[in-house]
Amino acid sequence: MMLIEVVTLFPEMVDVVLKTSILERAEKFSKVEYRVHNLRKWAKGKHLTVDDVPFGGGAGMVLKPEPLCNAVDELKQQAFKSGYEPYVIFPSPDGVLFSQERAIQLAKRKYLLFICGRYKGVDERFRQTRVDEEISIGDYVLSGGELPALTIIDAIVRLQEGVLTDFESATVDSFYQTPLLDCAWYTRPWEFEGLTPPEVLKSGNHKQIDEWRQKSREEKTKARRPDLWEKWLELQNKKEED
Ligand code: ADE
Repeated sequence: MMLIEVVTLFPEMVDVVLKTSILERAEKFSKVEYRVHNLRKWAKGKHLTVDDVPFGGGAGMVLKPEPLCNAVDELKQQAFKSGYEPYVIFPSPDGVLFSQERAIQLAKRKYLLFICGRYKGVDERFRQTRVDEEISIGDYVLSGGELPALTIIDAIVRLQEGVLTDFESATVDSFYQTPLLDCAWYTRPWEFEGLTPPEVLKSGNHKQIDEWRQKSREEKTKARRPDLWEKWLELQNKKEED
């Protein structure tokens, strides 16, 4: 079983997502355990302060290094005692871009610790001394690390053995085996607002249906993601050479 810990100033925000749908089911079936901690637990003083004004001035506040470092040290020590090899992830727009490949790698670990900061404001010394990896989920700025952490957790947990049903199977996802986007899917009613699916989908001919789905994947990828389409063509060429 994988252990995932999250340190955040907004534990309710993280809890509600981890207690929903596939993420919740994964914990119910003992595929993963989540532990969510409030960063204030490691704050000191009467006001349990976790942030302060930046040296050099400027707008906004910076998360102090002590509560962050103390949180990581305590949780890592506990993890070591339980035989885990801790790995600390700090979601940040400065990080390396997240991908399905990275999700597959991280899914092999038994213990992950996510530290959620507020954008802009985390003391650099925490990042230098306590973080194993900074990960960005895209070139845009969110207000904090909670949504990125949950995004990364979702991608990792659904890869754990036995979490998905056959129907949800990760192995047929786009990106799992090929860099192509997913094909179009339809369900009842056959006609909706004058629109109908391609006839082949009610033919019962599975070879033709597979061919249509592959064509749908390729056309969509070519139109929307020239970068992935190039990758796909390269893969096809390589296969021909082998
Ligand atoms: N924190 C704020 N924006 C982020 C992003 N795009 N990725 C990861 N962490 C973030």
